[in-house]
Amino acid sequence: MNSTLTAPPRPATPDPIAPVSGTTEMLSGDDAGIARAAALLRAGACVALPTETVYGLAADATDARAVAGIYEAKGRPRFNPLIAHCADLDSACREGVFDAHARRLAQAFWPGPLTLVVPLAGTARVSELARAGLPSIALRVPDHPVATALLRAVDRPLAAPSANPSGRISPTEAVHVARDMEGRIAAILDGGATRIGLESTIVACLGGVPRLLRPGGVSREAIEAVLGLALADDSSASDAPSAPLAPGMLTSHYAPRARVRLDAQAIEPGEAALLFGSVPPHGMQNAVAVRNLSENGDLREAAANLFGAMRALDETGAAGIAVAPVPEHGLGEAITDRLRRAAADRG
Ligand code: TXA
Ligand code: MG
Repeated sequence: MNSTLTAPPRPATPDPIAPVSGTTEMLSGDDAGIARAAALLRAGACVALPTETVYGLAADATDARAVAGIYEAKGRPRFNPLIAHCADLDSACREGVFDAHARRLAQAFWPGPLTLVVPLAGTARVSELARAGLPSIALRVPDHPVATALLRAVDRPLAAPSANPSGRISPTEAVHVARDMEGRIAAILDGGATRIGLESTIVACLGGVPRLLRPGGVSREAIEAVLGLALADDSSASDAPSAPLAPGMLTSHYAPRARVRLDAQAIEPGEAALLFGSVPPHGMQNAVAVRNLSENGDLREAAANLFGAMRALDETGAAGIAVAPVPEHGLGEAITDRLRRAAADRG
């Protein structure tokens, strides 16, 4: 049931925990393939999975390090918030708070090509990196037997953007994913050609009239018929299909209260220090608090720690956060993009 795309072939008894480096397993969407994909996902690997819309590049949404792997594999220069896929409405309700509109839409269209952006629940397990630091969460219950079986087997929400490298077309067949992502992800679970072939519709239910954030597999008319009212349009005045959300909410949560100073060679009195790697900047005795994104200089670990570390330092009440230089290659590009916006967003 399982063949490799690149040499050397896997050993007969593969270690499910070891990240597969440079080798992508092709798994068929049968019980054995689903079990293997679930083991890889639970071990923190990235696996492409079929949904009714497009193939997604999935990782355990509760594990920030696994989520960082998605950005790494896609070569995304930014941490966009990702959709958390759930097996059913009950598991989605653990992650998000559903108002009457959201509940009605979920009941009408799930499983199916509708994503609901709702406030984060107190019981949520989805990592901050998967939400890009937002206090809301995008949730979807896909309508595909292989995706459903996988979600049940993993028993955790799966973060999954479309399984294409950043800037390329979304894949609707396993072979498209293989062409683009071979060697960059642990496995591809083949569930045949996707039925819908375009992404889910995204509707935000964050109080007031639900807002259409992205057109997709469910039509506006169908949604409005269920709600009995007209959807508000995305006000973020961008033609990016995924422009996230209403002004204010995003910015305020993205920006720490403290002044953020990048590329700090020395820590000034009263500053908190956000470090990267094993060589500390000068003036460490001045630091009122210290966090290291990754002492080993591991960008994947740094990405996983980024939001939590910024929040922890901001919560110390320090007037400023001095950020040591972070390399700009690989995931470093998205990390420095986020830091730069934190430095600029203020005030
Ligand atoms: O059909 C689909 O939705 C596919 C399949 C794989 O499920 N997934 C997909 O994911 O298209 P992605 O990551 O390409 O798109 C997710 C979009 C992003 O553009 C992001 O801006 C938006 O959802 N989004 C996620 N969380 C959000 C939030 N809290 N607020 C506003 N927008 C959010
Ligand atoms: Mg996409």
